[in-house]
Amino acid sequence: MKLLQIDSSITGASSVSRPLTEAVVAKLVAADPATAVTKRDLAAAPLPHLDLASYPGGESEAAAASSAILEEFLAADVVVIGAPMYNFTIPSQLKAWIDRVVVRGRTFSYGPDGVTGLIPGKRIIIVVSRGNFYGPGAPAAVFEHLETLLGGVFGFLGAPPEFVIAEGVAAGPEHLAAALDSAHQAIDRLAA
Ligand SMILES: Cc1cc2nc3c(=O)[nH]c(=O)nc-3n(C[C@H](O)[C@H](O)[C@H](O)COP(=O)(O)O)c2cc1C
Repeated sequence: MKLLQIDSSITGASSVSRPLTEAVVAKLVAADPATAVTKRDLAAAPLPHLDLASYPGGESEAAAASSAILEEFLAADVVVIGAPMYNFTIPSQLKAWIDRVVVRGRTFSYGPDGVTGLIPGKRIIIVVSRGNFYGPGAPAAVFEHLETLLGGVFGFLGAPPEFVIAEGVAAGPEHLAAALDSAHQAIDRLAA
């Protein structure tokens, strides 16, 4: 099995999402020790904004770099993505990566019957960390544009993601502990 681990937190040693993506990967590797893990740290090595020159499939050096990101994604059986919420949505570093892997003709197609996702069967696990609470009925729920975005994107590609969520992590030490506990329980429940 090939596993691609994507981290995008900018908060270094204090990151909530990074140890959780590690825990997800550790669980999957323990279940299948032959798993080949590739790690991509989008904070340490940010991708530039997508532009015309870097659009995958073109001739330029920038396009080749984008194509390499796309091929790395396509080659993975499982993709584990650390997705902290910054200003109500994903980090721009993660958006730049998404812009390399949502590619017409490679990961989705348009046809007479509408959109077809081209990556069915790829397993996508997304670790969400967010400071506030966004569940049903929460006052901030209307500002939740991370889970909705990533759920939509990977559903569009034919691979609806599994989520591990740590929320309320900025609401005080007790809430942080409860959020981590809940996230680790969700990791325990993930199929191996
Ligand atoms: C730049 C920045 C913006 C943030 N914006 C939000 C936000 O809009 N909503 C929220 O609930 N938490 C927000 N937070 C809190 C983070 O979601 C929280 O600290 C989370 O743990 C981030 O993941 P990380 O620790 O892996 O970096 C923000 C944190 C930072 C550093």
